[in-house]
Amino acid sequence: MADAITYRLGGLLDLDEVIELYRASTLGERRPIDDRAAVADMLRHANLIITAWDGALAVGIARTMTDFSYVAYLADLAVRASHQRQGIGKELIRRTRAALSPGALLVLLSAPKAVDYYPHVGFIRHPQAWTVKAGGTAPPAP
Ligand SMILES: CC(C)(COP(=O)(O)OP(=O)(O)OC[C@H]1O[C@@H](n2cnc3c(N)ncnc32)[C@H](O)[C@@H]1OP(=O)(O)O)[C@@H](O)C(=O)NCCC(=O)NCCS
Repeated sequence: MADAITYRLGGLLDLDEVIELYRASTLGERRPIDDRAAVADMLRHANLIITAWDGALAVGIARTMTDFSYVAYLADLAVRASHQRQGIGKELIRRTRAALSPGALLVLLSAPKAVDYYPHVGFIRHPQAWTVKAGGTAPPAP
């Protein structure tokens, strides 16, 4: 099945399509998908977005902010529930890494459902990671 999947660098600029994909992956539960302006900002300001497609259907997204040389923050990795566990997430990560300089550090905060996923696909837990909300009013949630 994963053989039929195609990947695009950039693209997936339709807001409703992106919101639907986040919802269909369950990541929408942890992202501000009811705030269209926020999702529009998330798309507009991310500078490395890779999408996966099953024909005309968007089935996966990796959304990253990066300087391409030193560090990259993989903010969202989401695969449509109907297409999970077919290697699509792994391929989105592989393509994200391939777009960066080999020395660049890829950083992320795992959603609770994915804490066992990232070590499985090559990420190493960092014991000195720190976060704070810009407004400082609530604990940050990945
Ligand atoms: C987490 C997620 C991105 C993984 O994508 P995926 O396409 O389903 O995963 P893959 O098919 O690439 O899986 C690669 C490997 O990890 C394993 N795996 C997949 N999901 C896993 C999980 N939640 N926990 C542990 N291992 C997992 C697969 O079995 C596979 O193992 P293998 O290489 O030994 O065969 C996807 O399940 C998803 O979108 N989940 C909901 C949203 C979410 O939590 N995103 C993470 C935000 S930080």
